[in-house]
This record gives sequence, C-alpha cells and structure tokens, in this order.
Amino acid sequence: MVRDTAVLLDERRVFEPKDEILSRAHVKNWEKEIEKGKDLEKYWAEKAEQFEWFQKWDQVLDESNKPFYQWFVGGKINLAYNAVDRWIETEKRNQVAILYINERGEEKKITFYELYVQVNKLANALKNLGVKKGDTVSMYLPMCPELLISILACNKIGAVHSVVYSGLSVGAFVERMNDAKAKVLFTADGTYRRGKIIDLKAIADEAILQCPTIETIVVVNHTGKPIQISELSGREIFYERLVDGEPAYCEPEWMDSEDPLFILYTSGSTGKPKGVLHTTAGYMVGVATTLRDIFDIHENDLWWCTGDIGWITGHSYVIYGPLLLGTTTVVYEGAPDYPDPGVWWKIVEKYGVTKFYTAPTAIRHLMRFGTRYTNLYNLESLRILGTVGEPINPEAWMWYYKNVGKENCPIMDTWWQTETGMHLISPIPAASLKPGSATLPFPGIDADVVDEEGNSVPVGKGGYLVIKKPWPSMFRTLYKDEERFKDVYWNAFPGYIYKAGDMARKDEEGYFWIQGRSDDVLKIAGHRIGSAEVESAFVGHPAVAEAAVIGKSDPIKGEVIKAFIILREGYELKTQLIEDLKKHVRYELGPVAVLGEIVQVDKLPKTRSGKIMRRILRAQERGEDLGDTSTLEE
Ligand code: PRX
Repeated sequence: MVRDTAVLLDERRVFEPKDEILSRAHVKNWEKEIEKGKDLEKYWAEKAEQFEWFQKWDQVLDESNKPFYQWFVGGKINLAYNAVDRWIETEKRNQVAILYINERGEEKKITFYELYVQVNKLANALKNLGVKKGDTVSMYLPMCPELLISILACNKIGAVHSVVYSGLSVGAFVERMNDAKAKVLFTADGTYRRGKIIDLKAIADEAILQCPTIETIVVVNHTGKPIQISELSGREIFYERLVDGEPAYCEPEWMDSEDPLFILYTSGSTGKPKGVLHTTAGYMVGVATTLRDIFDIHENDLWWCTGDIGWITGHSYVIYGPLLLGTTTVVYEGAPDYPDPGVWWKIVEKYGVTKFYTAPTAIRHLMRFGTRYTNLYNLESLRILGTVGEPINPEAWMWYYKNVGKENCPIMDTWWQTETGMHLISPIPAASLKPGSATLPFPGIDADVVDEEGNSVPVGKGGYLVIKKPWPSMFRTLYKDEERFKDVYWNAFPGYIYKAGDMARKDEEGYFWIQGRSDDVLKIAGHRIGSAEVESAFVGHPAVAEAAVIGKSDPIKGEVIKAFIILREGYELKTQLIEDLKKHVRYELGPVAVLGEIVQVDKLPKTRSGKIMRRILRAQERGEDLGDTSTLEE
C-alpha cells in the first residue's frame, strides 16, 4: 500500500502516555531503555537470562561470518520446554494457556498442564512415526488447538515445522511442501468460515498427490463432520488415534541455540516463495522480549492476537510469545464480521481481553459500521491495542483509539516482517504516539532510512528502510537458497546492512513513517503476495499468453490485484473468461489473491532484456510521471 504522503506530512497529533498505563509498565523510561539497548550484547544477554537453559551460551553474538550472524553460540535450550514444561512447576500449572473460540461461539480451554500432556503425547507419537531431529513436519490446519500442539510437539523433539496458511490453495501448498520436503503433514476435516465449513482435507488430498516426500498424513477431526480416511493405506491416521496411549512425558531434545526451528514461506519479487528460516534461541529471546515490553504483559493479562498462525504474526505472537511469558493466548477461528461485525467486541467483553492486536485492514473494515457495535459491548477491560501488517492510516488509527480503546489505550503500531521474526520498529506504552507512525526502533535495533548508495537521507525525505545491526530473532537464511538470501537482503548496500524492502521516512524526532513496499510485493489485506506469483498463476491458464500484475489501492484491503493480460489467439475477455480466470487464480493461490481488475492489453512495458517493468504500469495507474524510461524496449 502506498500511502498518501500529503496526509501523513500533515499529521501532527501527539498522544502522550497516560499515567495509569505508565505506572504499571515494565519499561517506564523509553529513552533510557533505548540507551541501554546500545550495548547490544549486554542488553540481549540480560533478556536471555530469563529462560531456562540446559547449557548457557559462550558467546552472545558471533559476527565472524556476515551476514550469517549467530546468537547465543554454545547454548543449549528447548523452546517447548520454556513455553510449556517450565510452567507446570509453578502457580500457572492450572491456568488457561490456550483459550480457543470459534465463530459459532464454542470454546475450549486448555491449561498449561493439559497442554503439557498433549504436547508430550504428540511428541512421542511423532517419534514413533520416525520423525527425528531436523526433519520437517508441515501443518495445513485451521486456527485450532492442535495447530499449536503440533508446533510445540515438533520443537520438543527438534523437528522443524513449516506451516502452510490454510487460506492458501493447491498450487501454493504443493510448492511449499515440496521445497521443505515435509515428512509428515497435519491437516483437518475442515475450518469454519462465515457459517460454512471449508473442506481443507479435500484441498490437501489433491495437493498431496504431488508431494512425494510426505510419509504420513495426520487428520484432525476438527469440525466433527464425518470424513473418510484410508487408515489402511498406512499413510493416513486420525490425530486422536495417533496420540492415544502415548506416554505423557517426552524428554526434551536439547537444541543448539542455532538449530533450525521453523521454515515459513513468504513472497518476494520472483515467482518462487522464500523459505524464511528461523533458529531456536535468538528467536525465542526476541519474540518474548518484544511482546513483554511492547504489550506490557503481566500476570492476569488476557492476550488476543487475531493474526493467523499460518503467518509470522501468529507464529511469534499467538503461540511462542505469549506461552513463553506464561500468558493465556486467545486462538480465534473465524472472520471479524461473522455472525455480525460485533463478534470481536463481544469476545472482548465476555472474556475480559486486556491486550488486543490486529491488522489495519480489519480495523478499516469494522470502521464502516461506525460505533454501532463498539458501543454495544463493554470494552473497558482493554488496556493496550496494537496493529501490524501494513501501514495504518491516521483515520483508522483514530477510530481504533476512540471507539475501541475509548481514548484510554495506547496503540502499538508494530513494524516488522516474516524475516525479522519480532517487532523491530514500534512504540512501547511509555512512548508518545503519532497516528500513522510506528515511532522508534525497539531498544537494541538500529534502523535508518537510506538512499540508493546506502547513505542516510535527510529528515523528511523518503528512502529505503534498513537495519544496520543484527538482532536475535533475525532469520538466518532462505532455506536452500543462500545466494538469494545474500543478494536480496544484504548486498544492496555496502557494509552488511539489512534491506527490508520497504520505503520510509523519518521526521524531526526520528519517528519512522513506513510508506509501503519498495519491491514487487503486494499487501492485500495485510497478506504478502508477490506480483510474479500472481502472474505465473495467470499464465498457467490456457487463455493467457502474458501477464503483469500491480497493486491497485483499495480503501479496505489496502491493495488488490490489477492484472494486465495479453490473451492467446481465439480468446476474448468476456464475463465467462473473467470468471474463469478468477477461479483459476484462486485455485492456484487461494482467496488471499483478491482480484480487483483484469484488463486486456496488446503489449506490456518491458526492458530490452524482456523483463516486465511493473513500475511503468504503477506510475500510469496512479497518474504519476513514468520516471526513467531509458531501459524501456520501445
Ligand atoms: O511492508 C511491511 C508491512 O508488512 C511487510 C512484512 O510482511 P510479512 O512478512 O507478511 O509480515 C507481516 C507481519 C509482521 C513489511 O515489509 N508491514 C508490517 N507491519 C507494518 C508494515 N507496514 C507498515 N506499518 C507496519 N506496522
């Protein structure tokens, strides 16, 4: 989403922290904390002390092989042990760890002790299936307790998890599964979505035909709808059958700090998704620290992050962050507006949610209903709000602040990425807030805005967002693609500066205003999708000879797809074909690929070497100057 710079330049409102929030905040003095973060190794080592290590690290940060940074070298730790086992010896033993709620109003509460038993049983069962340390296990599951349990069971035994978002479809699924070479797949009979049950198993069944590495398919009977599985094939088994009778204890696999934890695919400029690889200890320290300090997590908090576990937000802040802090995490399965647009606020009231974290697209969507639903429920339990995934426009920020937070709750606009693993630029509750700005880098994070050469740009001028020093939960590489890792992120500027792929500017006070992606990545309702992925889906249709895709601005979703296509001979872009194309792209990529407009063209702007110049199409779309056209073919 490219932001209206005029609106942002005009945004001068400042919201100071309220005493009530400040008085109980873990971090009361933002400047001092940022100062502390300048001693990078000392700062993060202190945070790492809060976990239980099987063996402590010898070195906090190893920079000898840039950009392959290593953190807490020599340490041994188990993440599931720290997120679950650790709590059963404490007063949290019988506290709810997972509060699962769905759109039908059904709930399941799982205490830390119950979670411990379930994770251990499944960990043992996975071992019996032949899963060993370092093997990959995939999940194609709804937002359900089994998704968290299977992830935690993997890291109990040192297996690497690779979750495929349940909104992705066959083509995207196959590509990810085969790249990660998953041995076991968890899937379910279905997921609830707006009163219907989406048949996940049918999608998985179709995809699996093209995934030769999968040896076992574990099926969660989630919605209870009768399904057939072929247990006799020896490949499919029901989840309940699998864990039944397993011992309730499994010795944790003590992992090296730098052992792989998970692979999560995300989109880049080329058609091939990027397998972002995170490792164990640094990820754990970064995620727990940011959640604790940014959302000021205390005993008795009820934390709700609406992000899906299929994306990084859910990995870091639905599962790992809260459980590592021993906090109850709400897992919600459903849409924000079903059965009506008050469903989220009803949940806040019913359970007394204290910290609430969502995406700007959801806020913009709910904003359309004014105060009708926010006034219907008591939202007084809320203390801190957050947003993530795309820039938030000041108007949406103000609506959220006034109507959800009732002007009492500060809003944490957190900027980060799949690659960064944790929040990097974000306020903390002690910050002065400006609507639309993610404010300052988190302590220990050295962010800047630079020009093409990598030099800092003056105040107010736009440029590339970069991170100049390593941070613990940074991704370590792109799975099986070190060259791409170095090229895309580390070689753009001299001196191993991380190129984030966003444009930003800084104001007089050093506050960051994120402006949108600088590459060919779209942000549709906060979901990241590459132009090239969509183009390749288009050309997979027999009618399409060539395609170019750009983002078209949308008031709610931020961006939707605008596709320019050249048709093969004999085809005409009539209603039926448009419908066919929509269906086809949805089949390949899933409902995340929202098509706004398809236009037929005779030619696409290309460089002399044949690369599509989407930049030209974007400029045309926005009525802007075409910029440098010297490399254009004609
Ligand atoms: O463009 C930025 C946008 O989301 C991108 C990262 O997408 P993804 O890896 O899918 O992770 C999303 C959840 C962390 C960024 O490059 N983005 C994320 N948060 C913000 C944001 N843009 C502006 N403001 C934010 N707070």
